[in-house]
Amino acid sequence: MEQITITSPHMDYFANEAYKALRTNLGFCGKDKKAIIITSFSPAEGKSTTIINLAKTLTENGQKVLIVDGDLRKSSLIAKLKATGANKGLSHYLSRQASLEEVIYSTNIANLDIIFSGPVPPNPAELLEADLFSMTLTSLKDYYDYILIDAPPVGSVIDAAVIAKSGDGIVLVVESGSISYKDEQEVKKQLEKTNCPILGVILNKVKQSGKGYYQKYGEYGQK
Ligand SMILES: Nc1ncnc2c1ncn2[C@@H]1O[C@H](COP(=O)(O)OP(=O)(O)OP(=O)(O)O)[C@@H](O)[C@H]1O
Ligand SMILES: [Mg+2]
Repeated sequence: MEQITITSPHMDYFANEAYKALRTNLGFCGKDKKAIIITSFSPAEGKSTTIINLAKTLTENGQKVLIVDGDLRKSSLIAKLKATGANKGLSHYLSRQASLEEVIYSTNIANLDIIFSGPVPPNPAELLEADLFSMTLTSLKDYYDYILIDAPPVGSVIDAAVIAKSGDGIVLVVESGSISYKDEQEVKKQLEKTNCPILGVILNKVKQSGKGYYQKYGEYGQK
């Protein structure tokens, strides 16, 4: 396994507290909830940011975490983490062009490993649907406490629903004020079809009044 250096975004006090609360809540979902899919209805609601911060918070608690960039159509983690030197990714592995050992990178953050998405394949949904993906997740669960999977938005492509079939639970990121009730119901309906339980919803990018000093679970950051 090769090691790469990543730079994660800075978290302020409130964000830190909110992620600790999220970590605690995840713990209460049960020990069998290991492969967690993070998705949203539309792009840019904060999935990747959530994954990175949650992963860091979990590792600080001594948990061993693997991040999987499951957005095979538009990888963003490699740029977001300023990771250089990671040449192989999930698309290589799922198309049998690389071994698991070659696509898992350890990082400068203790207990945090990452699989990046790799080059855009012609058949993303097909690769994610194949048994190799779900079988690999199952075997990785023996080694990691959590596998956090960054999935594309549900409103755009089928991939998140496909990935969810192989996961233990879904966490939905909702950008405050960005989607309608109708769209929220639609995303819920689509995800329920996968039989993968929705563990919770994170309300992201909540505007702060400036007066409060405490944030509710799920609310973090300032826009
Ligand atoms: N709580 C927050 N407060 C302020 N800015 C945020 C917050 N969460 C995310 N952002 C910003 O919003 C933008 C989108 O975030 P991010 O890339 O995590 O979303 P995404 O859902 O992964 O997007 P995509 O669908 O393109 O993969 C980024 O510029 C990020 O820095
Ligand atoms: Mg993203």
